[in-house]
This record gives sequence, structure tokens and C-alpha cells, in this order.
Amino acid sequence: MFAVKGLLITLEGVDACGKSTQMSLVKKWLTSIDIPHVLTREPGGVPQADIVRSLLSRSGNQWSSMGQALLLNAARVEHTVAFITPNLSAGRHVICDRYFDSTLAYQGQGDPERVEKLLMIHKMAVGNVIPDLTLWLDVDAERLNTRLQRRAQQGEVHDFEKKKNLQELARKGYQYLHQQFPDRIKRIEADMSVAEVSYIIQKYIMQYLGL
Ligand SMILES: Nc1ncnc2c1ncn2[C@@H]1O[C@H](COP(=O)(O)OP(=O)(O)O)[C@@H](O)[C@H]1O
Ligand SMILES: [Mg+2]
Repeated sequence: MFAVKGLLITLEGVDACGKSTQMSLVKKWLTSIDIPHVLTREPGGVPQADIVRSLLSRSGNQWSSMGQALLLNAARVEHTVAFITPNLSAGRHVICDRYFDSTLAYQGQGDPERVEKLLMIHKMAVGNVIPDLTLWLDVDAERLNTRLQRRAQQGEVHDFEKKKNLQELARKGYQYLHQQFPDRIKRIEADMSVAEVSYIIQKYIMQYLGL
């Protein structure tokens, strides 16, 4: 008997677009219909990646865009080799909250040359592991602003203006990637209700899993 490989499905989008909310709904749904799967996130999934996450979020640290990209790729290699690939080989679908499109969007910001370089780095780092399906939760700037402001009021965001600008650049980055890879990346209007977004996510996943 041969094992059927699992699929790598990623959720992408700027901060507060609803990824964590939807991850937990995907988990509930896949568990309820007995589909073998694991959930994970980036940067994370393995101890080395948590070290990178803390390096990048330490205040006062000013990493260049390329420096950040290399650190994130280092974490991604470990995560992919130790966690993602073994699970896929064992036939479990891997649902990942952010993967390499986050690096392409945040550090590439829609600039074709930068994105090209980042794709080369990805290929050198993890080879041909590319998501089978990427669900991009896209929220328009105004609504995103409201969600980010709410987070800032809860004390989760320190430099609001900087954060807002970064998310706007990353959104441009995602728009560019969506144009470049329309077969893999599906745009979902995440301005809709949580239930509506969840329904669309389930429809895409069912289509890709052949359910
Ligand atoms: N479709 C939605 N409509 C309105 N608010 C939402 C929606 N999805 C998520 N939220 C809210 O937006 C905030 C950010 O959601 P979260 O899932 O943590 O985003 P992310 O993980 O992408 O940063 C949370 O307060 C969440 O309750
Ligand atoms: Mg989240």
C-alpha cells in the first residue's frame, strides 16, 4: 500500500485579517469530519523558529529587510524539515498560519526584483516545498485600520502608525503575489462575517481535498 501525501494549505494576510480565528474553525471542522491534519504557524512550529520569532520581536532590534528574510528562512527550513514534510509524508494535511508568502509579501512588498530574490532564497532553503493551496484573507484598508486600532487600544500594538504602514505595504505585496500565482493563491474578502469567511475557506479546502 502506498501512502497518499497530505496537502500543504496556508492561511495568509496582514495582521488582524482573521487568520487565527479561521485556523481554529478549520481545526474544528476537519476534526469533526475525521480528516487527518495538523495545524501550525510561522514563525514557529519548532523551538528554533520560536527563537527567531523572539529575535525579530525584541524591541530596539533593527533588522534590514534582507536580514529578516534570512532569519525567517532559517526558521522555515527547520519547521519544514522537522514538522511539515514528515506530516505530509504521513498523509496528514498541514494547515499553516503564514508560510513563505508572508516573507514574499512583507519583505518583497510587491517589488518584482525583491520577490524574485526571495523566491530564490526559498528554493535554496527548502527546495520545492510550496503550498498546494494558499487562502489569502484580504481586508480593505479602512476595516483593517479599525481592527488594528482596537488591538492598539488593548495594548497589543506599540507603534500604531508604523504598524499600519507596514500592513499597507504587505497588502500590496499580497496583491502582487495573487496576480503572479492566481492558481495557487485564492483571495477571500475577509471583510465578511467570520461565518461567511469560514464557509468560503471550507469550500476551497473541500475542492482541493476532493471531498
Ligand atoms: N470576519 C471578521 N469580521 C470581524 N472581525 C473579525 C473577523 N475575523 C476576525 N475578526 C476579529 O479581528 C481581530 C483579529 O483576528 P485574528 O484572527 O486574531 O487575526 P490574525 O490572526 O490574522 O492577526 C480579532 O479581534 C477577531 O475577533
Ligand atoms: Mg494570528
